[in-house]
Amino acid sequence: GGSTWTPGLLKSLCKMSDRFPLNKVTMLDVVEERQRLIGEFGKILFKEEYPKATLEYTTNPDEAFIDVDFVFVQMRTGGLKMRELDEKIPLQFGLVGQETCGAGGFAYGLRSIGDMIEMVKTVRKYSPKAWILNYTNPAAIVAEALKRVFPDDKRLLNMCDQPVNLLRSYGRLLDMDSRTFEPVYFGLNHFGWYTSIKDKKGNELLPKLVEHIKEYGFINGEEGMKNDKKDSWFETNLFTKEIVKTDLTTIPSSYLKYYLFPDYVVNHSDVNYTRANEVIDGREKEVFGSCALIEKQGHSKGSGLKIGIHAEFIVDLATALAFNTQERMLLIVQNNGAIENIQDDAMVEIPCIVGKDGYEPLSIGKIPTFQKGLIEQQLAVEKLVVDAWIEKSYNKLWQALMLSKTVPSATVAKELLDDLIEANKNYWPKLN
Ligand code: G6P
Ligand code: MN
Repeated sequence: GGSTWTPGLLKSLCKMSDRFPLNKVTMLDVVEERQRLIGEFGKILFKEEYPKATLEYTTNPDEAFIDVDFVFVQMRTGGLKMRELDEKIPLQFGLVGQETCGAGGFAYGLRSIGDMIEMVKTVRKYSPKAWILNYTNPAAIVAEALKRVFPDDKRLLNMCDQPVNLLRSYGRLLDMDSRTFEPVYFGLNHFGWYTSIKDKKGNELLPKLVEHIKEYGFINGEEGMKNDKKDSWFETNLFTKEIVKTDLTTIPSSYLKYYLFPDYVVNHSDVNYTRANEVIDGREKEVFGSCALIEKQGHSKGSGLKIGIHAEFIVDLATALAFNTQERMLLIVQNNGAIENIQDDAMVEIPCIVGKDGYEPLSIGKIPTFQKGLIEQQLAVEKLVVDAWIEKSYNKLWQALMLSKTVPSATVAKELLDDLIEANKNYWPKLN
């Protein structure tokens, strides 16, 4: 409830109140001051835009989860301070330092798993049938861990806003509404490819998109080059022009740059100022500043707080589950043959049809050798991280690092691991 993404989510709930009507919203965060600021903003917003619904906030999980229908989760164990270390420690070794990819993603994964398991248990104690919609990162590792611990929980869904974000960019590039697209996408979370994007009439749009992306990446031509905010997301979106050349029959996720172009990424990173710093100095200040101002003024007019795709997507998913819309959505689910030549127990990101009984994955068929090889390597990494957490195994974690495409040598992997253990000692299990 005290995330920088939460105000947008609350606004989205207000905006979509016709489609997804609510009686009551309870926000929960373990950090009291963050929750209070966003909670007070929420109260003002709901008074203005959604007087029919009640809004409360708390720091007590035993209060928050009583008799709820939906739980929206986005936790960040260790906060942005730990994200900063996830990014900076690998960079000190000359390796990719990123929130969810490579060594940073491992570190964050080992912090998230324990808290996520505890949260699901608490929810199930008070609301056995609630839908749990989970954004918590690194989503691939979290999804793998939750599947192992709660294999029969069919009302626990893992998701990411990145594929929808990409579709929206493609919509902008083509000047079309991306909600009309019929996409085919496969991969692991933050590790996937679009192989087809059709319009409602069945016309294939992918080749035209690839032509554009080869020149400008996901940036909207000369206009975007001039006007877009020049932060690290701009760089990432522009760099997709290089990634797309690795396979011109697909549109790759922008996150593949960390695995396919790690040398470029490291050479263009600043070990003293990473994305975490941009977020701390940017979004974090803006959101909490706006909430404090709104509380002081007593109204939310002209606040500049925006809804965003992250906020829309989760409410769309909840709507699909509540009202059986049978919408096609990209989720992180157990493979079970959907990608024919990838093992059944992989947690893959693929299109699903969503309705009142949950999700039905679409069949992807066989995937090419290039993607299969990459996915299998990365999948093994993710599985080893989860093994390491469950077995408290130093060796498995070292193996995970050695296997990552972002880490070149066993020696470096070990030195890096020892630094990560020290930095995460308040969060990780003690490894044997
Ligand atoms: C995308 C990804 C999320 C990630 C976020 C980071 O939305 O799907 O998994 O957490 O970007 O954005 P930020 O602005 O915090 O770097
Ligand atoms: Mn994501």
